[in-house]
Amino acid sequence: MHKAVLLQETIEALRVEPGHWYLDGTFGRGGHTAAILENGGRVLAFDVDSEAIAYGQEAFATHVEAGQLILVRENFDKLAMVVRQNVPDEKISGILFDFGTSSDQLKDQHRGFSFDGDAELDMRMDDRLGVKAKDLLAVLSEKQLANLFLTEGGEREGKAIAHEIVWQRQKRGIETTQQLVQIIEKAKHDRRGHLNPATKVFQALRIAVNGELESIQAVLPQAMKVLAPKGRIACISFHEGEDRVVKQVFKEWQSDGIGQVVTKEIVTAGEEELQDNKRARSAKLRVFEKNAEYV
Ligand SMILES: C[S@@+](CC[C@H](N)C(=O)[O-])C[C@H]1O[C@@H](n2cnc3c(N)ncnc32)[C@H](O)[C@@H]1O
Repeated sequence: MHKAVLLQETIEALRVEPGHWYLDGTFGRGGHTAAILENGGRVLAFDVDSEAIAYGQEAFATHVEAGQLILVRENFDKLAMVVRQNVPDEKISGILFDFGTSSDQLKDQHRGFSFDGDAELDMRMDDRLGVKAKDLLAVLSEKQLANLFLTEGGEREGKAIAHEIVWQRQKRGIETTQQLVQIIEKAKHDRRGHLNPATKVFQALRIAVNGELESIQAVLPQAMKVLAPKGRIACISFHEGEDRVVKQVFKEWQSDGIGQVVTKEIVTAGEEELQDNKRARSAKLRVFEKNAEYV
């Protein structure tokens, strides 16, 4: 079961007030939403994954029936529209994003996110999307693949891996996670470090399949628009690409006089959480507060 990361730090940063509305852009298993509800807040939550929403409807049925929680299966890049449709007259006091995939998605053997086990190379969080990871491997050029592995995964041996992919796809096609794992193992020379050799390529493909960085770019201005004065936006990132977008946008907002970065130092997990949750190792929290006079 997914464990919410930086839970206490995020909830404290949002300064939840009873009866106020909050947005959870990435519901998952509802760890952060549950904490907002426990503090008396009301939540409009998004997830693109039908399984996450179905889980939420059941596990949080009482809150849904009481009108304290609204669950929407939608990409958070439609945030402004979903807010207009569901809580048109409400002020939004805080907004949270806990980017990426949940542990439940990663562990699901059928969805192709993980290099453990064997599955079709799918990797869609939203199964309404038309392009799976195996489709990208089939159509992108060698240069495009190498570039994707380097820019979205930080994989320095991306060129060699892309070369091997193009060779193998001509020979027999690439359909499964284990086929890709074998290709990566064959192409990579540098096996140092604690990461599985396939980690960075899998990350890069997942980010591309789900358009993750584009969604973050698209949602932040919308989030700022719907946020009430003195409201806060909290973003938890797990890799360099996500964090770079958040950091840049927060910096621009601050220099435009829209508000201040609250987290002068990035917030990371403490020893106790790290012992308990491996996923927390790479989590980084940044928080921004909108000025009282900025509407
Ligand atoms: C890291 S998990 C969130 C976990 C959650 N905070 C919790 O404590 O259970 C990220 C979730 O966000 C969803 N997600 C990722 N990108 C999304 C997007 N652009 N729009 C909506 N949901 C998204 C994923 O499907 C996943 O369920």
